[in-house]
Formats: sequence, C-alpha cells, structure tokens
Amino acid sequence: MEHNILQITPKQWGSPASKLTELLLTGHPQTNGQRRVNMDTDSLRRIFMWIDLNVPYYGTSETAYPEMPGCRRLYPPELDKTLAEVAARRCAACHQGGRVPRPFWTRLQNPQRNGFLLAPLAIEDGGTGKCGQAVFKGTADPDYQAILRTFDPILDLLQKRPRMDMPGARPADVDRSCLGSLQ
Ligand code: HEC
Repeated sequence: MEHNILQITPKQWGSPASKLTELLLTGHPQTNGQRRVNMDTDSLRRIFMWIDLNVPYYGTSETAYPEMPGCRRLYPPELDKTLAEVAARRCAACHQGGRVPRPFWTRLQNPQRNGFLLAPLAIEDGGTGKCGQAVFKGTADPDYQAILRTFDPILDLLQKRPRMDMPGARPADVDRSCLGSLQ
C-alpha cells in the first residue's frame, strides 16, 4: 500500500501512464488502422480526471452506511464463523486446515454464486463441481443452507437501505456523515 508514494517524477503514473489513455487517444485502432473509438475532448478529460482521482468506484462521497467500517463495508456478520465451522468438518480433507480458496471480495447479491457455495456443489445442482466431487448433497444440504442463510440479514438491510451504488439509495444525514465519524 502506498509503496509508490515517493514516486513524484512527472507523468510516471495516473492518466499520463495509463494504457487506457493511450487506447482512447489512438482510437483503439483495428488491424487496418481504422479507429474504433472517437471521443470528444470533454469526455476524454472526464475519463482522464477519473484516472487521476485514483479511479474511484463510487460516484459520490456520500454514504448510506456511515456507521460501517470504511463508511460502507457490508459483510454478513456470521459468515466467517459458519464457513469455518463447516469447512473444518467437510472441506479440510482436501483444503488444508479448512482454508477454502477465497478472493478478497465476497458477493452479497446472489450469494449462491460465491465460490465457496459453487465449488463444492455438483454441476447438475447448479454448482461448478470444481471440488471434483459433490461435497454438498444438493442445495438442500443443511451446511449449504447454513452458509447461505448468513447472508439474509445483509440482504434484508440492503432492501431497506440500498448502498450508494444501488438504485434507490439515499445518503445518510450530513451530521452522521462518514467524515464526522473519522474526526
Ligand atoms: C474431495 C476434496 C475436496 C473437498 C472435500 C472440498 N474441496 Fe474444494 N476444491 C477441491 C479441489 C481439488 C479444488 C480445485 C483446486 C483448488 O483450487 O484447490 C477445489 C476448489 C475449491 C474452490 C475454488 C473454486 C474455484 O472456482 O477456483 C473453492 C471456493 C472450494 N474448493 C471450496 C470448498 C468448500 C467450501 C468445501 C467444503 C464445503 C470444499 N471446497 C471441499 C477439492 C475439494
């Protein structure tokens, strides 16, 4: 993190160093040289500014969840505990120490598409079958359901209070804003 903070040579990072910039400026040409992209200057500048702002995901600094870590983190509180408990019993034979492979993110919407629910499920049951055998005996398997159900509270919460990147989101009051909680 921030290992390049001392890198101050002009044009070494941000939009001047971005491959996306190069593609947009050259028009992302076909093999015959014909441009695939023609953006007007204002549009180009908006993208370059977005890159130079460090490619923020959210289009706003307001938040619907000022009380959460990072002012927005939503994570099923019981997931890690339940998954660890199931993994110790049913995954550890192949995944050492019950540590199942996980990316750094967790899918909240359509939680059944998280790898830890897909891989141990047979293809005919809607899984990917990547574990090589049907560890879960179908989606009715109590352990499968136990993991899936840990997402219910978060999904209920999101229904009532969408996050700022979701339709219908409303920012929290200014005096409960994220900045306030950091001060
Ligand atoms: C019979 C052995 C076995 C068991 C039991 C097992 N797995 Fe796997 N699993 C594998 C193998 C083999 C792979 C593919 C190689 C790898 O990524 O380690 C895999 C891959 C995975 C992946 C990565 C899938 C991907 O898309 O790359 C996840 C997630 C996973 N397993 C979760 C689980 C969970 C959760 C359990 C227990 C409920 C479990 N596994 C039980 C053998 C097993």
